[in-house]
Amino acid sequence: MRIIVIGASGTIGKAVAEELGKTHEIIRAGRNGADVKVDITSIDSLKNMYKQTGKVDAVVSATGSAYFGPLSELTPELNETAIESKLKGQINAVLVGMDYVNDGGSFTLTTGILMDDPILKGASAAMANGGVKAFVKAAAIEMPRGIRINSVSPNVVQESWHKYSGLFPGFDPVPVSRVALAFKKSVEGAQTGQNYEVY
Ligand SMILES: NC(=O)c1ccc[n+]([C@@H]2O[C@H](COP(=O)([O-])OP(=O)(O)OC[C@H]3O[C@@H](n4cnc5c(N)ncnc54)[C@H](OP(=O)(O)O)[C@@H]3O)[C@@H](O)[C@H]2O)c1
Repeated sequence: MRIIVIGASGTIGKAVAEELGKTHEIIRAGRNGADVKVDITSIDSLKNMYKQTGKVDAVVSATGSAYFGPLSELTPELNETAIESKLKGQINAVLVGMDYVNDGGSFTLTTGILMDDPILKGASAAMANGGVKAFVKAAAIEMPRGIRINSVSPNVVQESWHKYSGLFPGFDPVPVSRVALAFKKSVEGAQTGQNYEVY
């Protein structure tokens, strides 16, 4: 399969690209130093990415930013980061990319554990995760041409623990290789409308 991995230079995206790259052709996408440049917060940039790649069999999004901070300090402006990037950015990658995915192909988006297992300072990210999960479940029943759509909800990964450990007390991080396998299941399997929890 030809597979676009958005966020392929990131902690999770790199592991996904490596896992899927064993048996598929990977097109790495991101804002810097990728095979194709894309900023998911820009619809024009998404359109441009798909124009450059042409038809593909799968699109994986392993990206999406969010503001982490106390709810009392979360302003509408700060909340926009998660809305523009993790929520709308990933959903627009589907809406703009639909015609570029071959019959029977798939989209796989990324959510995260904190929507189900809340942490302090995580409300904005949880909002975006929940929106993505709901979109995936609802969109799955009317995707055209046998196209499937799923999301992967990772626990904190061991490789990111140094960045996030203070935010996730008592969590038991998982190896990123396990998260990559959930993306493989989504891309190579037959299920749709799922949110694969790797907790
Ligand atoms: N790491 C974890 O423990 C963990 C756990 C649960 C959920 N998640 C979720 O998994 C996703 C990836 O996390 P990560 O830790 O792997 O992130 P990361 O290491 O910071 O990597 C982010 C990747 O996305 C790209 N990117 C960032 N903003 C972009 C944009 N606007 N448009 C296109 N590409 C963009 C980056 O490359 P460029 O900078 O070159 O664009 C990079 O390749 C996020 O949604 C995160 O919330 C992560």
